[in-house]
Amino acid sequence: MKAIIYTHYGAPEVLHLNEVEKPTPKDNEILLKLKATAVNSGDVRLRKADPFAVRFIFGLLKPKINILGSVFSGEVERVGKDVKLFKVGDQVFGHIDMSFGAYAEYKCLPENASIALKPANVSHKEAAVIPFGGVTALHFIKKAMIKPEQKVLVVGASGAVGSSAVQLAKSLGAIVTGVCSTENMAWIESIGADKVIDYTKEDFTQTGESYDVIFDTVKTISVSRSLKSLNKNGKMILSAAGMSEMLHGLWISMTSSKKVITGVISHKAEDILFLRELIETGKFKPVIDRTYSLAQMAEAHAYVEKGHKKGNVAIEIN
Ligand SMILES: NC(=O)c1ccc[n+]([C@@H]2O[C@H](COP(=O)([O-])OP(=O)(O)OC[C@H]3O[C@@H](n4cnc5c(N)ncnc54)[C@H](OP(=O)(O)O)[C@@H]3O)[C@@H](O)[C@H]2O)c1
Repeated sequence: MKAIIYTHYGAPEVLHLNEVEKPTPKDNEILLKLKATAVNSGDVRLRKADPFAVRFIFGLLKPKINILGSVFSGEVERVGKDVKLFKVGDQVFGHIDMSFGAYAEYKCLPENASIALKPANVSHKEAAVIPFGGVTALHFIKKAMIKPEQKVLVVGASGAVGSSAVQLAKSLGAIVTGVCSTENMAWIESIGADKVIDYTKEDFTQTGESYDVIFDTVKTISVSRSLKSLNKNGKMILSAAGMSEMLHGLWISMTSSKKVITGVISHKAEDILFLRELIETGKFKPVIDRTYSLAQMAEAHAYVEKGHKKGNVAIEIN
């Protein structure tokens, strides 16, 4: 099968289209013929080993996993003899855990992985871009226990995580304000934001407004400064936190009425099922900025690495 392989950390050019062996499913696995995947900020970090700590988990000198890609949409081609949840021909989408491997024509996964039937109202490429931002935003939003009528601010509303956070918070009945640049304002409103702040013209910490939840996906304003815009008993989500913000957040949570939520997300099949329901009921829409082919992977990575994508970058495989 065709796959994008990388054997060294580095620039987008370390990604190469190669022929590799097609996998065979174990008894509890399904073999997926992948139709689409996405290039996410996480893939770029793994490709570059940035931050350096990536190397402690994924290989000190060179990557131990040679095929990246954490999200997919495709068709079940074969099932192992013990598989009960899926059958040949099912159209599915989902999120792969630390094994990665979606930059390929085929991938085997255990039937109890984060997989669900693809919503009928979206294409494979639309389904493939949903899980990265969707699962990340859902993980943090569940921890913040957002309630109807709460005021939620999403900083970085135009990214994969931010655009998902806007839609999820809105679906829970929150009053949502998105922070983004001028050219993204209209579409952030179109996906449900009640208000949009253009960060190139206005600093949200200087508007006099305060919020019950601040979901910061970009980490461009210091935690101390953002905290002034957080209500008493408010919650601050930092999806892009490094070690220093995590420790600072822990200190704030221990010494004040405000809570800071950080950490690495977990993967659960129930989250993909939850997102599927929202998509089917029209409460969550995939946002695709650009689409590339598998052979154009290096180009797609170079674009995502610039950090200005609008929602997601899709890769069509077959
Ligand atoms: N904790 C976890 O387990 C976990 C999981 C997934 C992702 N993450 C992290 O979450 C973060 C967000 O990821 P992502 O995939 O959503 O990133 P992304 O898709 O690359 O989006 C970043 C967005 O932020 C916007 N932006 C840049 N500067 C801004 C500013 N000052 N104010 C507001 N918006 C700004 C960019 O648009 P413009 O530049 O055009 O404004 C872009 O649309 C990353 O740091 C990623 O590593 C963490």
